[in-house]
Amino acid sequence: MEDLGHVDPAAIPILADELNLSKADVHGVVTFYHDFRQSAPGRTTVRICRAEACQSVGAAGLVEQAKNRLGVGLGETTPDGSVTLEQVFCLGNCAIGPSVQVGDRLYGRVGPQELDRLLEVTA
Ligand code: FES
Repeated sequence: MEDLGHVDPAAIPILADELNLSKADVHGVVTFYHDFRQSAPGRTTVRICRAEACQSVGAAGLVEQAKNRLGVGLGETTPDGSVTLEQVFCLGNCAIGPSVQVGDRLYGRVGPQELDRLLEVTA
């Protein structure tokens, strides 16, 4: 599944059979946890923390900036498939927020200029 980046709904009966669970159980897990996607993500995922510590130092503005710059909403992927934009609620980097994760890399104290630079790299 990691190679695909998502859990195709067609795989749910197969997973249920392999795990000796009901299809409803597997479907429940896949739809409850947002880290399980049901469609392929963009080549890079940008996650902006919206939890309290990051909110208090400007995360909301970063989210709006990213949405405007990429032309997508939260949970959406740019039409060229390059970037998926997501919000998260704590990346464990609270002391140096606002925190943004780009792919596997975590950035702290991200301001508008730094976010622009990070989004430029993903394009
Ligand atoms: S509140 Fe943003 S990293 Fe924890």
